[in-house]
Amino acid sequence: MTALNRFLIGALQRLPRSLVRPVAMRYIAGERLEDAVQVVRGLNAKNMMATVDVLGEDVSRRKEAEQAVQAGERVLDSISQERLNSNLSIKLTQLGIKIDPGLAYENLKRILQRARSLQNFVRIDMEDSSLTGATLDLYQKLRGEGFENAGVVIQAYLRRSEEDVRNLIQIRANVRVVKGIYNEPEALAFMDREEIRRNYLKLLRLLLEGGCQVGIATHDDFLVGNAYQSIRTMNLSPDSYEFQMLYGVRSSLRDEIVARGHRMRIYVPFGRQWYPYSMRRFRENPQIARYVLRALLFK
Ligand code: FDA
Repeated sequence: MTALNRFLIGALQRLPRSLVRPVAMRYIAGERLEDAVQVVRGLNAKNMMATVDVLGEDVSRRKEAEQAVQAGERVLDSISQERLNSNLSIKLTQLGIKIDPGLAYENLKRILQRARSLQNFVRIDMEDSSLTGATLDLYQKLRGEGFENAGVVIQAYLRRSEEDVRNLIQIRANVRVVKGIYNEPEALAFMDREEIRRNYLKLLRLLLEGGCQVGIATHDDFLVGNAYQSIRTMNLSPDSYEFQMLYGVRSSLRDEIVARGHRMRIYVPFGRQWYPYSMRRFRENPQIARYVLRALLFK
């Protein structure tokens, strides 16, 4: 990120949340589960699937982890009751992995059991590199116990990802591939944009050739174009992969992918803890920080 962009994001972070909220809401369904249900219904009507995320991460008390489990279960119940085409995305820090990995395992298992009883699926989001190994281990363990209804995320910026992908192929994992959003040290992560793209495409090819179900999660035209090409040359059936995008980001690209006949899943976050999530989205697109600040200064 350039110095100017860092300054803009810093300025945005000092603003009262009430001023940031209207812009943040373009990336978030709302604060209540009903808001998410409404957004998902709208997406389904446009031939898109969804994955719902209850905002919140990094809990420090068992009680909060328990609340996160219950919130996840409520989402799964609503998806079923409302007959929505959606699954659930969760973060292990929400389920208490930093308090006790055993607690996160038990909590995730409960959510997977509820999802299984409703014929649904749970995606375990990937967080920073201090949790990569633990997240993949937990996933492998639950798959070994027969939970086929779970998937993980691989971050193309991490140097370790190729080896992780090779292991995941052995169990025909369900994998979402992303570039990666956290600040990581150079020893662990590629820093160069082109290198990350090259790695993304390499991992994507390995996973598709390995017969895994893949979520191609990006808004990058270059990656989307290359993915189209791989899908064509490998003659993949449309149900062996899906594109995935974030709610509120690049809807014209999203619509184009759907119009070409590919499956599309939209990541739909909702909840009261919208602030840290929105700041990550602003960091990805500092143009928005500029727009918010200009609107506030010159209104
Ligand atoms: P890139 O950032 O280069 O963006 C490509 C284009 O899209 C650019 O033109 C850019 O301006 C535009 N764009 C990107 N973000 C925008 C925004 N917020 N607003 C407007 N325009 C924007 N990461 C992670 O570490 N763990 C995870 O579990 C997940 N999960 C996840 C799920 C889904 C469905 C998606 C799409 C992404 C994630 N990510 C993630 C985030 C991911 O790692 C990455 O940070 C973002 O997808 C941005 O990378 P792109 O590949 O889109 O490219």
